[in-house]
Amino acid sequence: MKTVKISIIGFGAVGQGVARSILSKREYLKKQGIDLRVVGISDSKGSEINTEGIDIENALLRKKQKGSVAVGTRSALDIIADVEHDIVVEATPTNINNGEPGLGNMRLALKSGKHIVTSNKGPLALHFNELKEAAQDNGLFFRYEATVGGAVPIFNLVHEALAGNRVVGIEGILNGTCNYILTRMSEERMPYDLVLKEAQELGIAETDPTYDVEGIDSAIKLVIIANSIFGLDSTYRDVDVTGITKITPEALELANRNNYVVKLVCEAREGKLTVAPRLVLKRHPLAVGGTQNVASILTDLAGRITISGKGAGSIETASSILSDILYIVRNS
Ligand SMILES: NC(=O)c1ccc[n+]([C@@H]2O[C@H](COP(=O)([O-])OP(=O)(O)OC[C@H]3O[C@@H](n4cnc5c(N)ncnc54)[C@H](OP(=O)(O)O)[C@@H]3O)[C@@H](O)[C@H]2O)c1
Repeated sequence: MKTVKISIIGFGAVGQGVARSILSKREYLKKQGIDLRVVGISDSKGSEINTEGIDIENALLRKKQKGSVAVGTRSALDIIADVEHDIVVEATPTNINNGEPGLGNMRLALKSGKHIVTSNKGPLALHFNELKEAAQDNGLFFRYEATVGGAVPIFNLVHEALAGNRVVGIEGILNGTCNYILTRMSEERMPYDLVLKEAQELGIAETDPTYDVEGIDSAIKLVIIANSIFGLDSTYRDVDVTGITKITPEALELANRNNYVVKLVCEAREGKLTVAPRLVLKRHPLAVGGTQNVASILTDLAGRITISGKGAGSIETASSILSDILYIVRNS
């Protein structure tokens, strides 16, 4: 049995999803010969540390009842630097201004000889190549499947299953909130403001939806794709972005009459990065509805390969994180 020790930095929807997935997959992991232990968990108020393995059920219950996992005042940085473990799962909030606190956590993890698995887009949208190179220089893995497309395994698909192919372009719908709004506007012939309100009531859109509806979240994800798959050194400021706030029900109705839907499409091709509303044929693989995400990889040998699935959600995102953890365990 191989003992693998991890920390979970950030214990919100994703961090707790990871904890729940580890609990529900304990037998599966044992059958794979893996004894996966969580030795540190951190939220904004403090941490729990147990070098032999934290009682995960207990930690989840404490978080639910008290609002924090903290049983001490040691910070995430203390866990990363001082507690012996193999992998840091970084799931703190995305900050697109300076990447913090995720960026500092990731830099310290690499300095302390720990592999990184993350769902946090901020540090990757700002300092992708620095983090990738620091990981390589230190012989460590830097895995980030969960940053783009939630459960949809875009990076694994391109880097593993499609190895040997040259990727000519990538098209995707990577923001479930925008896709939900456009789908409802089109199907119910409702105006943007009303559908946004409905999405907010359902918890699909944030109280401040700017980040999603102005296309910023899509642009950040496109940058991570472009840097990872095309080896670019771009940041989200390099993306030509148009959001969905100006789209009218009349435009959608016209599209509909001609067998099209309007989608917020991310595209990376020939070094150019674009996020913009586009007409998509109703039977095209990109024409997914609701909160679904989709990515089409255009390759020289395999042609167009399209995958779609849940772009967000606690357990769905944890699926990508668990897969990255297992990749590291099997390859290190
Ligand atoms: N939710 C999704 O479906 C999804 C999907 C893909 C990617 N992501 C990304 O994954 C990350 C986590 O998302 P989420 O939905 O889990 O966010 P969330 O629910 O807001 O959770 C964030 C967690 O980070 C903790 N935190 C904040 N500052 C911290 C610090 N300095 N040190 C330690 N912990 C700190 C928060 O503490 P408190 O609990 O004390 O507030 C909270 O537990 C984000 O970057 C997000 O963009 C999310």
